[in-house]
Amino acid sequence: MGAVIIVDALWGDSGKGKVCAYLAVRDDVPLAVRAGVGTNAGASVTLEDGTLVKARQLPTGWINPRTKVAVGSGVLVDPEVFAAEVAEFDLAERALVDSRCALITPEHIAAERRDAHLAATVGSTCTGNGAARADFILRRAQQAREHPALAAYLTDVARQVNTVAREEVVLVEGSQGTLLSLAFSDEYPYTTSDNCTAAAAMDDVGLNWRLVQDVVMVVKALPTRVGEGPLPYELCEREVLRRGIAEYGVVTGRPRRKAGQLDWDLLEYATMLNGPTQIALTFCDHVDPAMRGARHRDAITPAVRALIDQVERVTGAPVVLLDTGPRLGDLIDLAA
Ligand code: IMP
Repeated sequence: MGAVIIVDALWGDSGKGKVCAYLAVRDDVPLAVRAGVGTNAGASVTLEDGTLVKARQLPTGWINPRTKVAVGSGVLVDPEVFAAEVAEFDLAERALVDSRCALITPEHIAAERRDAHLAATVGSTCTGNGAARADFILRRAQQAREHPALAAYLTDVARQVNTVAREEVVLVEGSQGTLLSLAFSDEYPYTTSDNCTAAAAMDDVGLNWRLVQDVVMVVKALPTRVGEGPLPYELCEREVLRRGIAEYGVVTGRPRRKAGQLDWDLLEYATMLNGPTQIALTFCDHVDPAMRGARHRDAITPAVRALIDQVERVTGAPVVLLDTGPRLGDLIDLAA
């Protein structure tokens, strides 16, 4: 029992949503809570029947029909996105939102789109998150409790998280990635509008640190970055296409810039900030295509084995999950 925090080590888009969905089913969790910034994040997971699910507001833990899904009070809520996901995934009976969440309005989105600094220089998703957070800090934002469309879902998520975590496992799904953190990135202004570490995720949902059971740090085997800012070992577009490993953003559809290998110093720094107890190593099939869709540990190739060993040396934590393809079942659970 306790809370399992899922955070991304680098620049996001590493498959946190898939990890959250898998753990919700494997551990039959009663509650999954979204931490992180807000609707700028896009989690996607392909179900076993091939259906592609994309979510920006609610945690993907809803894949388990028993799991309630909630949004912590530190996360920005766009009522339209919330309502659309509740309808699309049929979550009216089990979606919750903290009554204190600050709201993103159409004006916030329009303001970000007009802002050349955000749109062009920073490469923001222009989903209104930074503008809404600014209003929250200036104490002039609307909160979830004021919006009629959210009335049926309101609760005190902090109380629920801490109560449930005393008896059972609660998943806390972070968003973005550690190196996009507002106050920990060396690359400001190429950051998002809040911190994205494990400690930030705890704070976003009001989790008492004594109830943390594990921090699962998701490490993308070949890191990607969308928007501006440095990306060590960046591959040229032609090479990305040649290898057949092109990716596109869930929220914006923009091509993701892709690196040819991990930067070990940056991974060490992310480890220092997050204190992971477990690692999920994702997109292993992009390192070695022979791993694509592998579901058994016997299929681990020498190249991926060497990568696992190095990731474990740098992070000091065991690699417990290997992601090998887009489908929910395309993974190897080394803890099972
Ligand atoms: P914003 O948070 O939408 O203002 O975007 C600021 C920076 O963070 C831009 O470089 C975005 O591409 C990046 N960013 C925001 N959300 C995500 C995400 O979910 N995945 C990856 N990058 C993101």
